[in-house]
Amino acid sequence: MAETTKITTLDNGPFLVNGSVVVTDAKGNQFDLKSETVALCRCGGSDTRPFCDGSHGKLGFESAERAGQ
Ligand code: FES
Repeated sequence: MAETTKITTLDNGPFLVNGSVVVTDAKGNQFDLKSETVALCRCGGSDTRPFCDGSHGKLGFESAERAGQ
């Protein structure tokens, strides 16, 4: 059975990806990931896109979706 990779939508913050994953740019070049947990920016304000750098807090990014609603 394949291992499941979990993506959590954090309230007012990034997508938290936990598990085996590869992140590439549009040309297929692979980003060097330092851990099994990666935070992907969804506010658009990060200076380290596609990764979150915490800027969402300073920008006042608000988004708190709930599944099944
Ligand atoms: S979600 Fe954290 S900087 Fe964009």
